[in-house]
Amino acid sequence: MTLTGRSLADGRRIPCRRAALQAGNTMANTVIIGAQWGDEGKGKIVDMLSARSRAIVRFQGGNNAGHTIKVQGQETILHLIPSGILHEGTICLVGNGVVLDPEVFLQEVDQLAQRGIDVSPARLGISKKTHLILPYHKSLDKAREAKRAGRKIGTTGRGIGPCYEDKAARVGLRAGDLCNPELVRSKVTHALEEKNILLRAYNFEPLDPGAVIDGLLALAPRLTPYLTEVEDRLQEVQQKGGDILFEGAQGVHLDIDHGTYPFVTSSNTVAGNAAAGCGIAPSALTRVVGIVKAYTTRVGSGPFPTELLDDTGSYLRTEGHEFGATTGRPRRCGWLDAVVLRESVRLNGLTDIALTKLDVLQNLPVLQICVAYEYHGRRLEYPPQEEGGLGEVTPVYEELPGFDEDISGCTSYADLPDNVRAYISRIEALAGVRISLVSVGPDRRQTIER
Ligand code: IMP
Repeated sequence: MTLTGRSLADGRRIPCRRAALQAGNTMANTVIIGAQWGDEGKGKIVDMLSARSRAIVRFQGGNNAGHTIKVQGQETILHLIPSGILHEGTICLVGNGVVLDPEVFLQEVDQLAQRGIDVSPARLGISKKTHLILPYHKSLDKAREAKRAGRKIGTTGRGIGPCYEDKAARVGLRAGDLCNPELVRSKVTHALEEKNILLRAYNFEPLDPGAVIDGLLALAPRLTPYLTEVEDRLQEVQQKGGDILFEGAQGVHLDIDHGTYPFVTSSNTVAGNAAAGCGIAPSALTRVVGIVKAYTTRVGSGPFPTELLDDTGSYLRTEGHEFGATTGRPRRCGWLDAVVLRESVRLNGLTDIALTKLDVLQNLPVLQICVAYEYHGRRLEYPPQEEGGLGEVTPVYEELPGFDEDISGCTSYADLPDNVRAYISRIEALAGVRISLVSVGPDRRQTIER
């Protein structure tokens, strides 16, 4: 295949991945995002597409994420390290847009190493600009949630929000600072002068600056070999014509701007952040795959128009093992919401959809899809944008027949029962986007590519 390309100032050529995509190469530089409220099954799809990628990069979020991959019965849950790590020969990078808990990163490194997976700095790197989650971020996260009483966000308690707050306030500690112990001492000491006042006000234990600094510096010798220039690594991959996979975390409707504010996470989860979150040009992003669960789930508080508080909701939770991979919390379950999906399509320019957990719907006599909302006497095709608006909509449902066949062994689209194909087609029509991957079980092999 001939690739058109752009020239660098020094005359080298960068292959134009958009041209490659248009010419029929389905990989190119692909962003994977969750199109609902997270937990759509991104880990599995990232793992699968990693087999064709040279580099996999995380660009936002932190260990609030839990990406599950199942290979021949063995389950791996990754919170920070990109889900492409199970594929030999890939480069896995943590971008500047991520917030990284040093202890969790090293625990994951150790767990993978014990299984014989190569986690050497040759293939695993952290941007020097990645902000670090420190013990006071975790304490503050928990202290604030405890204080919120009836207004809880239901955060994961991993310190994500307070760490991003420090980044925006320009007082954060970045991974690259670990090479400069004096800078670590000064930043942590100053931060704790303020954080300890807050912790005391919340009736939480203040933290000893010396202990925080010593704890962090003790980890530094293991972390600093992983520091890298993510921008350089990605540029090199591009110059050699390799494909990059951008692994989003959480979901579009948890986005700090576009989600159900204030019941959101603290980063931009939309595909547009893939560029800023790792230092690559937006023009390098060619394909955007939205991961859509065949029904909807949500963890934590916040509006959820299609939530089912009845036996069907419990059925989905049990059959879909809908318990958080990070916190173990039971997930709220409901019908597929095409309004939420439509919003994800327009915010992210989805080029295609991976539909996951379709097998979970087996044995439900009917399947409902929310196709629009009724809101203050009007019919809406997109969610209301004002705060709290989503909590006031009434879903308009369309009913489709269910299926009772076991589809977990289906390996081609043609194998799927008629009712299942009708459900897929209806989702495609409502979203206006093609479903290119269908997942019918947790294992890597239980995926149908169309
Ligand atoms: P935080 O990201 O821990 O601050 O939590 C903010 C909100 O995002 C809470 O409702 C969490 O349950 C939700 N959340 C954060 N990470 C994930 C995820 O990976 N999957 C699903 N929900 C998440």
